[in-house]
Amino acid sequence: MKIEGCCAIVSGGNRGIGAAFVAELVAQGARKVYIGARTLADAEALAATGPEVLVALELDITDAAQVEAAAAKCGDVDLLINNAGAFANVTLIGAPDMAAMRLEMETNFFGTMAMIRAFAPVLSANGGKDGRGGGGGGGGGGGGGAIVNVLSAGAIVAVPDMGGYSPSKFAARAATNCVRAELAGQGTQVCALIVGSVDTRMAEHVTGIEKSAPRDIARAGLLAVRYGIDEHDTDAHAISVRAAQARDPAALARAMARSFAKV
Ligand SMILES: NC(=O)c1ccc[n+]([C@@H]2O[C@H](COP(=O)([O-])OP(=O)(O)OC[C@H]3O[C@@H](n4cnc5c(N)ncnc54)[C@H](OP(=O)(O)O)[C@@H]3O)[C@@H](O)[C@H]2O)c1
Repeated sequence: MKIEGCCAIVSGGNRGIGAAFVAELVAQGARKVYIGARTLADAEALAATGPEVLVALELDITDAAQVEAAAAKCGDVDLLINNAGAFANVTLIGAPDMAAMRLEMETNFFGTMAMIRAFAPVLSANGGKDGRGGGGGGGGGGGGGAIVNVLSAGAIVAVPDMGGYSPSKFAARAATNCVRAELAGQGTQVCALIVGSVDTRMAEHVTGIEKSAPRDIARAGLLAVRYGIDEHDTDAHAISVRAAQARDPAALARAMARSFAKV
């Protein structure tokens, strides 16, 4: 799918990797980018930097009414970037109760699924025009467009110190594969991004690992869209986790357990 001329929506587009996607979409010639943000003022501040292309949108992906309203308002979208995510930084058993893991599941799994369900008909109607969308290479106006789910290395290997975050990303990864099959008939491309470690608010507590720039993740993500890649490792850390798992999954699981013991 071509990025040039596309119409995208980015959830959590106000900061971090989401804001980098917004900037990179503009740089690569998107005709319109909806910036979804829980706090409208945050999206408006960013939208003011590119009023010809950027549109601010209030969007909490765990709020069903807001998700439905977004799909109704953004009927021209042909690229959905599910970037919004939550990380509570407490462990599964160590947390005082299950509130944190419910929040992670609600956001990273159910919120992402709500967005896909709401936008699937929109994508079906769009994309494919002008040679852009999925639709088996597009060009025929058959619809399709693309979905990008911003996942994590924690979606391919269980990380004990990440509490409910890693399981929520595992679930989102499995659902990404299911949705890809389910939406193939309408020509929608569905991409999982396996993201390692990135210099954003979410990873402020992370030390001792080289963190990639948000812009590098956005560029990798848009490359995956352009080339129709189903699952793409976006950075050095994600690639290193994938390689370790391919070499010896049991050794990697032991290493994860050891790293937890040190926390
Ligand atoms: N940073 C990393 O090392 C790393 C690694 C792997 C994967 N990721 C993934 O990358 C994505 C972006 O994270 P980031 O690193 O850019 O972190 P971030 O700077 O903390 O940004 C997270 C974004 O998600 C938004 N958000 C959270 N809950 C939301 C909800 N219910 N509805 C709508 N938006 C919501 C936040 O909005 P507010 O500004 O209102 O809080 C913010 O815009 C996430 O899916 C994360 O899991 C990050």
